[in-house]
Amino acid sequence: MNQIIMGMQNNMGYSVKEIEKLIYKYMPTSKGYQQDVIAAMNYAFSAGGKRLRPMMMKLCYDMFTEQSEVYDEGVIAPFMAAIEMIHTYSLIHDDLPALDNDELRRGKPTVHVEFGEDIAILAGDGLLNYAYETCAKVFDIRPKDTGVEKAFVVMAHKPGIYGMIGGQTLDVVLSGKPVDERALDFIYRNKTSALIECAMMVGAYLAGADEETVSKLEQAACCVGMAFQVQDDILDIIGQEDKLGKPLHSDEKNDKYTYATIHGIDASKAYVREMSDKANDIIKGLHVKNEKAKEELIKLINSLIDRDR
Ligand code: IPE
Ligand code: IPE
Ligand code: MG
Ligand code: MG
Ligand code: MG
Repeated sequence: MNQIIMGMQNNMGYSVKEIEKLIYKYMPTSKGYQQDVIAAMNYAFSAGGKRLRPMMMKLCYDMFTEQSEVYDEGVIAPFMAAIEMIHTYSLIHDDLPALDNDELRRGKPTVHVEFGEDIAILAGDGLLNYAYETCAKVFDIRPKDTGVEKAFVVMAHKPGIYGMIGGQTLDVVLSGKPVDERALDFIYRNKTSALIECAMMVGAYLAGADEETVSKLEQAACCVGMAFQVQDDILDIIGQEDKLGKPLHSDEKNDKYTYATIHGIDASKAYVREMSDKANDIIKGLHVKNEKAKEELIKLINSLIDRDR
């Protein structure tokens, strides 16, 4: 049966290592006839990455949990692992020759370069499906918990056709074509903001936050995602490949119109700050149980404004 692991809140500024410690144990072992696909899933998952989505999820969970409260790691950690699996799948598929055709990710050859396109497609599928196998196990330890039910529904909705996949679809359909403000907004809100909204909403739901609060958090996360994608576009133009761990000028190569190519670097930087400030204002106005976690979330969002990776 499921082992319930109880943990105490730490001081809540999480390191990448602490997040990885919580999520790595949910990955499958590469064995059996399907070992090739599992090896590719693990390769992509453990390659590194900022682990922002599980980190934001945990901070949002902490925000609605008393600081002194013992928390149930068996509830939050599977969802943290699941969002990182879904994000990693989105990167594997985004890099495929049929999409962005990139050969470097998280400082390593992309999955299709290392394992072949067939296994890369399957590894993406595998991560997506395994994400739900992983977080659905929480129903065993928290049956009839409406917070868990709501979190699961969000996990199904936000990465899907009305979220990340929807955004990726318009992104590829409009490759090489001029993009108007509305279409660009749709692309960013969906391809990038949707998973960040998912992370923050799930953390809050699992901690028992109410609908009104989760809806405000969704709005804040949307702004964080917009800022995050515009900064990604800036870095595609003026970043450093060794820091980024992915190729520069991928957007130019694919004839993509981005916020940065349309408005220029300075206006893009101003937009990143404006959206981050907007997110901060919304978060500051939330009634939370744990002010320290709120502070840490705001710190994390601000640290992304000038990120170089
Ligand atoms: C990259 O996401 C894809 C975008 C939404 C821009 P991240 O920049 O969070 O990638 P990792 O997880 O750190 O590799
Ligand atoms: C993709 O946007 C966002 C995803 C859903 C994966 P990009 O194509 O700009 O992401 P990077 O720059 O390759 O990480
Ligand atoms: Mg792309
Ligand atoms: Mg890409
Ligand atoms: Mg990019």
